[in-house]
Amino acid sequence: MANVAVFASGSGSNFENIATSDLNIDIKVLIVDNKDAKAIERAKRLNVPYKIVERTGKTRDQFEQDILEILKQGNVEYILLAGFMKILSAKFIEQYDRKIINIHPSLLPSFKGKDGILDAYNYGVKVSGVTVHYVDSGIDTGEIIDQAPVIIEDDDTLETFEDKIHATEYELYIRALKKVLEVNE
Ligand code: GAR
Repeated sequence: MANVAVFASGSGSNFENIATSDLNIDIKVLIVDNKDAKAIERAKRLNVPYKIVERTGKTRDQFEQDILEILKQGNVEYILLAGFMKILSAKFIEQYDRKIINIHPSLLPSFKGKDGILDAYNYGVKVSGVTVHYVDSGIDTGEIIDQAPVIIEDDDTLETFEDKIHATEYELYIRALKKVLEVNE
C-alpha cells in the first residue's frame, strides 16, 4: 500500500473522491495552504489527518521545508495535487521526482494555469476535458498520464460545464492513479 499525501487549496472534492475510492493507498496527511479551505471539513469528516501550512509570513523555501518535514514524518512516497494552487519549486519537485501527480481541468497543453475551466469556456471550444500528469518544474507541463474529453454543448452554461468537468475528474484521477501505483508496486 502506497503512502500518499494529498495537497488541496479549496473545496477538496477531488480529495474526498480519492479518500473514498478503492485505491490501495494510505493517505498519511492532507496538506492545505489556507485555513479556510473547505477540504479541511472533509478531512475531519473522513478522519484523514490534515495540516494547515500557510505561506504568509515565510519565504517559499521555509514554506516548502515545513511541508517536507511533514511528508518525512509520514514516510510519504507520492504527492497527489487536488486543486493545490501554489507553484512548487524545482528544488522541491526534484525530491519527489515522478512522484508528484496533478489533475488539471483542461486538455493540456491547452488552457494551462489556474482558470482552466473558465478559460476554455470563454474561448468557446467545443471539446475540453481533464488531464492527469506528472509534475515537473514547468507550469502544467509534465508528462501526461491520462486524459479524458468533455464536450461543451451549445446549451451548456459555465456551471453545467463545470459539473461535467468535475464528474470526469473523479473518474479519471482514480483510473490514472491505479495506472501509476500498479506500475510502481
Ligand atoms: C479541480 O477542478 C482541479 O482540476 C483544479 O482545481 C479544482 C479543485 O477542485 N486544479 C487546477 O486548476 C490546478 N491548476 P476540488 O477542490 O473540488 O477538488
